[in-house]
Amino acid sequence: MDLLLTGGMGYIGSHAAVVLTQAGHRVVLYDNLSNSAQVMVERLERITGVPPLFVDGDVRDTDRLRHTLRHHASEAVIHFAGLKVVGESLDIPLDYYANNVQGSISLLQAMREVGTRAMVFSSSANVYGEPRYLPVDEAHPTGVTNPYGRTKLQVEEILHDLARSDPAWRIVCLRYFNPVGAHESGLIGENPQGIPNNLMPYIAQVATGKLAELRVFGNDYPTLDGTGVRDFIHVMDLAEGHASAVGYLREHAGWQVINLGTGQGYSVLEMIRAFEAASGRRVPYRIAPRRPGDSASCYANPEKARRVLNWTARRTLAQMCATTWAFHSGAGGKGAA
Ligand SMILES: NC(=O)c1ccc[n+]([C@@H]2O[C@H](COP(=O)([O-])OP(=O)(O)OC[C@H]3O[C@@H](n4cnc5c(N)ncnc54)[C@H](O)[C@@H]3O)[C@@H](O)[C@H]2O)c1
Repeated sequence: MDLLLTGGMGYIGSHAAVVLTQAGHRVVLYDNLSNSAQVMVERLERITGVPPLFVDGDVRDTDRLRHTLRHHASEAVIHFAGLKVVGESLDIPLDYYANNVQGSISLLQAMREVGTRAMVFSSSANVYGEPRYLPVDEAHPTGVTNPYGRTKLQVEEILHDLARSDPAWRIVCLRYFNPVGAHESGLIGENPQGIPNNLMPYIAQVATGKLAELRVFGNDYPTLDGTGVRDFIHVMDLAEGHASAVGYLREHAGWQVINLGTGQGYSVLEMIRAFEAASGRRVPYRIAPRRPGDSASCYANPEKARRVLNWTARRTLAQMCATTWAFHSGAGGKGAA
């Protein structure tokens, strides 16, 4: 299929671009490089042997999107583009609504005008808020507690309304749990600008010596070792979930919301130990007070993804850590944003 990947130069989009290209799809990466770098084009070509088509553009630029969709005859869009840092969204909510919500409306308008009516949307487990029961399935009530989560939920609702208004729309909202890891080549991965907000890149930067120590927020949660438990999912498994979703859209119209997680939770201390084993490095850490808003445990019920998309996460925690380490300790971690 001819696919447009907004935010396709970013962490998850680039891994999806690899999987989709290798599955025989033609991908166009549409990205404003606000959190990624041009060097990605060359790295993707090195991995797949196919030079990806890159368009430097913003999703709020409806004209440019319309032109790009028409020019490349895109049959479906995977909408990764967006701002994603929960803490930052509390400080600059307008930027989050403008980028994530307004950007999505602009994209959907362009799609409607050119007649492209198939979308996979990057949503987040953040929309569930504090879990009321575990594992979290798609019927779990939503309960967003921050602007970032609200932007995701609002876009999901817009997509639902659109599907209700016109049966030609084909939409899958994927609620990601905690993507980690990197492509096995070590060429692409998650390399945030500044101090990382996510656990795994933070651990990796402590292991390389770039950061002195990790702060573990709370060790008195009602979990196995007292530290928070999350559903970490290998980014290549997540990428494969997108290939399955694209296959599903070929056959089915309507609106679906589907969790992408493993169903298995790991604690922060388990992550540290697994990373130390994979890297052969020590990861010094210090226990700090709990952070407001953090829940004790959150992990997915991945049954719907298995049933509807015929997709299951396959990769192990050791693979998540080994590929993260290969990326951060090798050339990949330097240069790409
Ligand atoms: N990484 C996670 O932990 C996680 C978890 C749940 C959901 N998500 C969602 O998945 C999507 C991808 O996340 P990621 O981790 O790859 O983030 P990322 O920041 O690495 O990638 C996002 C890409 O979108 C681009 N972008 C941002 N705003 C844009 C705009 N207005 N126009 C065009 N391009 C724009 C950035 O330059 C970047 O390349 C996001 O929508 C995010 O909210 C991520």
